[in-house]
Amino acid sequence: MPLNDCRIIELPKIADARGNLTFVEGGNHIPFDIKRVYYLYDVPGGADRGEHGHKALHQFVICMSGSFDLVLDDGFNSRRFHLNRSYFGVYVCPMMWRYLDNFSSGSVCMVMASAKYDEQDYIREKSDFLKAVGAS
Ligand code: TYD
Repeated sequence: MPLNDCRIIELPKIADARGNLTFVEGGNHIPFDIKRVYYLYDVPGGADRGEHGHKALHQFVICMSGSFDLVLDDGFNSRRFHLNRSYFGVYVCPMMWRYLDNFSSGSVCMVMASAKYDEQDYIREKSDFLKAVGAS
């Protein structure tokens, strides 16, 4: 799938003087059903996370607190997204090389995923990824 399929998706925001509320419905706001949620937190300064590809997994990445960057690379082009609000996220389609960096202190990255954890779905080596997408 092309890098253009990966995009920022703005979520509903119910503004209220008592605090804002945002929600995500799988198959409605994001183009897949949610089977798993995981989050990264207590990330030390300078750390990179998530450097790998997925063969079939769809993901939606939200910054719940603080800020960080998400870099997506389809083997030919790359794009850096800066995430710093909890009412939008980035949809990541399958077969994207990705990593997260530039975490601010106290930031929390929440990821919604289309399938349960499966190590067989990972592409761990960039050279294997580039071969798989015909970019090497
Ligand atoms: P991984 O996805 O490899 O994170 P990163 O690329 O940032 O290092 O996950 C790190 C470890 O956590 C790995 O041993 C697999 C495990 N893990 C699960 O058991 N379940 C999950 O849902 C996720 C995302 C990871």
